[in-house]
Amino acid sequence: MNETLVASTFRQDVLKGLSAPHKYLLSKYFYDAKGDALFQQIMRCPEYYLTRAEAEILVLQSSQILQRCLDVDHPFDIVELGAGDGSKTIFLLKEALRMNGSQQYYPIDISPDILSYLKQTLTPKLPGMQISSLAGEYFTQLEQLQTISDQPKLVLFLGATVGNMLPDEALQFFQQLKSFLREGDHLLVGFDLKKNPQTILNAYNDAGGLTKAFNLNLLHRINRELGADFNPDQFTHYPMYDPIAGSCKSYLISRCAQQVTFDNGTVIKFDWDEPIYMEVSQKYSLADIHQLALQAGFKQVDAFFDCRHQFTDVLWRVPNSELLPGQ
Ligand code: AVJ
Repeated sequence: MNETLVASTFRQDVLKGLSAPHKYLLSKYFYDAKGDALFQQIMRCPEYYLTRAEAEILVLQSSQILQRCLDVDHPFDIVELGAGDGSKTIFLLKEALRMNGSQQYYPIDISPDILSYLKQTLTPKLPGMQISSLAGEYFTQLEQLQTISDQPKLVLFLGATVGNMLPDEALQFFQQLKSFLREGDHLLVGFDLKKNPQTILNAYNDAGGLTKAFNLNLLHRINRELGADFNPDQFTHYPMYDPIAGSCKSYLISRCAQQVTFDNGTVIKFDWDEPIYMEVSQKYSLADIHQLALQAGFKQVDAFFDCRHQFTDVLWRVPNSELLPGQ
């Protein structure tokens, strides 16, 4: 997509969300340059355990993960959805080079800024690995990739990025993703596990206020890119976790009755205490994950955990269609 098309999609999505009966914004728009930087800080903050847990898995268990893939096919392309800064993936990529599993890495991300950072920082650390960045939406870029390579694939979808979808949406997503894969291809997915509700809530309500700033940054982005006049001080960050549904949802709450005007003349009214739904970070049990794999038509090959079992990276395979489920 070219720049103007990207900008007009952003405008349409924002105005659609803010005109809905229950206002919402799409969390994929958090990641402008400032949002990328804030998320990198969140990943290092004491409450946000997810990144450290998954880093532990990839540092200690990458060779086991890759061995399961090599049992079927090699060499393979490593494709990553939502690669971000690649700071955890590097451990797996190093191991893939060492084991002669792969020499080709395609990081896909919505943020071109973070992809150029990734390429700059990873290239000198991974001699022999070809890094080809693809900036944009996942399925658009996967379609693009089909015209570039027909190698077997290991697709990475790490960091609990899948959590930004509700379970039904995740199922549809994996079903669609499967249409880009072939028998014997692998998918490594990072899920944040259900656990003590307070531990989860704290991760989205850090004492340093980074998550709050991360949410409010989207209002700043809308002001800058769509000529709106949000006063971010007039919104409160409200995260909540439902331990039965496993969904942690973040809202911004309007602190007063107010209105926001856009440069095209559109006016959006907010009631006192009216919420804007910003993001879901869905948590899963092991049974939920198994069920999801089955429903989406994957065979779960293995599951890898950090020592505290806070997080899991699960390895799914596109089964041979000749085989019956369970074989
Ligand atoms: C990048 C989607 C995994 O939901 O945990 C972190 C984003 N939002 N703090 C998550 C996020 C608030 C993060 N993911």
